[in-house]
Parts: sequence; C-alpha cells; structure tokens
Amino acid sequence: MSGADLVFEPVSAAVGARVSGADLTKPLSEGHRRQIIGGLHRYGMLLFRGQKLSDRDVVRFSAYIGHPEIYALRPEIRVEDCPELVNIANIRDENGRLIGLPESGRQWHSDLQFKAEPSIASALYCVECEAGDTEFSGMAAVYDAMPAPLKQRLAGLKGVNSYVIYNERYGNNARKMTEEQKRQVPDVEHPIVLSHPVSGRKALYVSEGMTARIAGLSPAESDALIQELFAFSTRPEFLYRHVWQVHDLVLWDNRSTMHRALPFDQKYRRHMKRSTIMRQFDDV
Ligand code: OGA
Ligand code: MN
Repeated sequence: MSGADLVFEPVSAAVGARVSGADLTKPLSEGHRRQIIGGLHRYGMLLFRGQKLSDRDVVRFSAYIGHPEIYALRPEIRVEDCPELVNIANIRDENGRLIGLPESGRQWHSDLQFKAEPSIASALYCVECEAGDTEFSGMAAVYDAMPAPLKQRLAGLKGVNSYVIYNERYGNNARKMTEEQKRQVPDVEHPIVLSHPVSGRKALYVSEGMTARIAGLSPAESDALIQELFAFSTRPEFLYRHVWQVHDLVLWDNRSTMHRALPFDQKYRRHMKRSTIMRQFDDV
C-alpha cells in the first residue's frame, strides 16, 4: 500500500528514527519520498529494517535524496559494476585483496566534511555484520542544548577541516596517502554552525576526526574551544549506537549528525555498502 503513511519511531532522544511501511525494492511514491525527506530532516537518521536490496535498489533509493556521487578518492573500493557504491568491508576476494575499506570512519566525522562541497546524506546498507556498531550524534540537538554564551561565541566562526589530518591521526598504513591524493583534498573552511538550507535548523558542524582547528583563533584558543565542542557534542544524551542487522539500510543527514564506526575484533566479518549523496534538489 504505497499510499499509506510511513511510521517513524524515534530510536533515541536526540537522533534517529525507525521507519516502517516502506519497501525499498520498489520505486517510491512522491508522498513517501516527501515523508522520508521530512523524517530525515526531523530525526537526522532513518533506519529501514528487513530490506533485501540489490546494489541498484540502494542507488535508486539514494537518488530520491540527491545525486549519488562516484567516489573519486579511492576507486579501488568501489562495488563492482556499481560505481555509486563503495564497499566498507574487511573481506578479501579470491586473490586475497581487500574488497573495501576495512576501517571506515573510526573517529567522529561527517561524510566529505573535508571537501568544499560536502555530502548532504549517506546511505549505508548492511550485507553482513558479525560485529561493528555505528554511533551517531544528533548535532542539531547538540546545538540546541548549548548555553547561550557558547552559541554567541560560535557565531561567524569557521572550522578548518582536513582529510590529511584525519588520515594521519587515525589512519593506518593501508591508507597511506600519495602526494596526488593529498592534492585532491586541500583543507577547507566551513561554518561551525550550519543552518540547514531546507529545515532552517541549526546544527554544530565540527568533528574530532575532521576539524583540525578554528580559523582566526590562536592555536591555544582554537584548541581549547574545539576540545570543548568535541566533549559537548559526544555527551551520552546526544548519541545513538546502532547495532546492525543484515538488510538494515540507514540513511543519515550529514548536515545535522556526525557518526563513527566503533572498533571491533577483525576476526568477525563485516560487509557494508555505502552511497555518498550530493545536493541535487531544492527540497533536501
Ligand atoms: C561511512 C562510515 C561507519 C561504519 O561509511 O561513512 O563512517 O560503521 N561508516 O562503517
Ligand atoms: Mn562516514
């Protein structure tokens, strides 16, 4: 019944809702598309359970939200015959080669925060997951909860975001970047407080993984302020920890949430597929 309303049930106080009533193997009705976009802006993260999806289904769903980009930085992790998806996986192919990134996003981040045009949303689909939870923080709720003097201090400030720093601080040898890769990702500045272009809601836009410093402040001032923001934005009341089930699809808003992959024992198999969604429509 594609005409019936979807049901949104919050999964935590600050971020995320489980959505029932959608079948993502089929094209969405315009009504459902609107409800999903409204839910994404309201809850920051949406969980669709029990969706047995092909690669093309994940891409078609992502394309209702925006333009699924072809990931340029690491072509070797693309899903075969489906360049809009990347493998986040610790699984090897028949030649012993890893099919994807085994450790994506260990530190707090928002996807493509290090780019001049960051991703607006991402979809992560669970093919197989014996271990490896993902944690989200609701950054609109974080902003709302900040004391007024702190909000005032942040007005007009910009964060310097850096993929190179992310990789140096948190990467491993498998992810050593070449000079050419580094040239593709120069540092970029973004406002520390983002106003969502559609919902108008404000959200904090700094993360420990990607925000190296605050532009225009002395190193000591910048350090003190970003440490305060990192600590505030990861208080337990803003977090949701997602324990994956096979055939979960999670869609998140990169402008009002951040996330990280929690560490797990690599003896357990984990295979996820991700689309990275860029802005395309006026309503998302
Ligand atoms: C990502 C990411 C987290 C995870 O794919 O962008 O951060 O738990 N993944 O795999
Ligand atoms: Mn990520």
